[in-house]
Amino acid sequence: MKVITGIKKMQLWNKGVRKKGETIGFVPTMGYLHQGHLSLMRRAKKENDRLVVSIFVNPTQFGPGEDFKRYPRNFKRDQRLSRACGADVIFHPQAKKMYPPDFKTYVEVGKLGERLCGRSRPGHFRGVTTIVNKLFNIVQPDTAYFGQKDAQQAIIISRMAQDLNLPLKIKVLPIVREKDGLAMSSRNTYLSADARKNAIILYKSLQTAVGMIQSGYNSPREIIFKMREMINSKPGAKIDYIKIVDARTLKEVKRLEGRLLIAVAVYFNKTRLIDNKVVQSYKRKKNGLYRRR
Ligand code: PAF
Repeated sequence: MKVITGIKKMQLWNKGVRKKGETIGFVPTMGYLHQGHLSLMRRAKKENDRLVVSIFVNPTQFGPGEDFKRYPRNFKRDQRLSRACGADVIFHPQAKKMYPPDFKTYVEVGKLGERLCGRSRPGHFRGVTTIVNKLFNIVQPDTAYFGQKDAQQAIIISRMAQDLNLPLKIKVLPIVREKDGLAMSSRNTYLSADARKNAIILYKSLQTAVGMIQSGYNSPREIIFKMREMINSKPGAKIDYIKIVDARTLKEVKRLEGRLLIAVAVYFNKTRLIDNKVVQSYKRKKNGLYRRR
C-alpha cells in the first residue's frame, strides 16, 4: 500500500492504472477510521481492481467554533486499517496544497445544502461538495462509496455528480451500528461514558418513529413529538433538529407519503451526533393489507 501526498503523483498513479484497463474504487474519509469506513472499503475493494482511500480533514467544511482542530486523528492506525482492507493507496494531501492562498472556486448544490444540517452548519455542505469534487478530479475513480449515516451528504453528492455529469458512480451503503444501535462515527470518541450510554436514544427514537409509521400513524407532528419526548428524557441531550422529510428533496412533509427520511441531530455537551432512517410509508386498505401511499 502506497501513501501518496502529492496531487500530481496521485493523478499519475491513476493514469497508470487506467492504462492497464483496471477500475478504481474510492472511499473519501477524514480518517480516524471506524467499522463504517471499513465496510465501504471492503465493498470498494470487492467491486474494483484498485482501492484508493483518502484521509484529509477538510477545513472548509467546519464552521468557526466547530471541532476542526480537535477532530480525532491517528494516521498510523488508519494506515494499518486501510492496509487490512486491501487499500492500494492512501491519498493524504496537505491542506496548503488542496487550498493554496489563491484558491477561489466552490461548488454548491442549492437549497439541498441549506436544509437539515445545513441550517445549523451554514457553509458545511459547500465545503463538502468542493472537496469531494476536487478529490474526484484527483483520484478519478470509477465508483465512489459513501455511508448512509451522512444521509444528506450522500444525497447532495449524488445530486452534484448527476448535475455536473461526473463520470463515476456513487454508491451509498447502509449505516454500521454498534451492538446497542449507536451509529458509528469518529465523533463518538468525544462522548463521556454517560453521554455514550444516553446517545443510544437517537437510534431508539428512530425505531419508535418507524414503528409508528408502520402501524399507521400519519401525522409527522405526533411522531416528532414522541421522539422529542424520548430524547429529552436523557440528561445532557440537546436537540438540534428532528425532521421527517422527503428522502429525495429533503423538504419537510406534512403527510407521511412515499419514501421518507427521518433525521435527527442531537448534542451531548459539545458533541453533535446525527442519525437517520429511511422508511417507505404505506397506507392500510380496508382489507387490512397495505399499499404504497
Ligand atoms: O464524510 C466525510 O468524512 C467527509 O464529509 C468527506 C466526504 C470525506 C469530505 O471531507
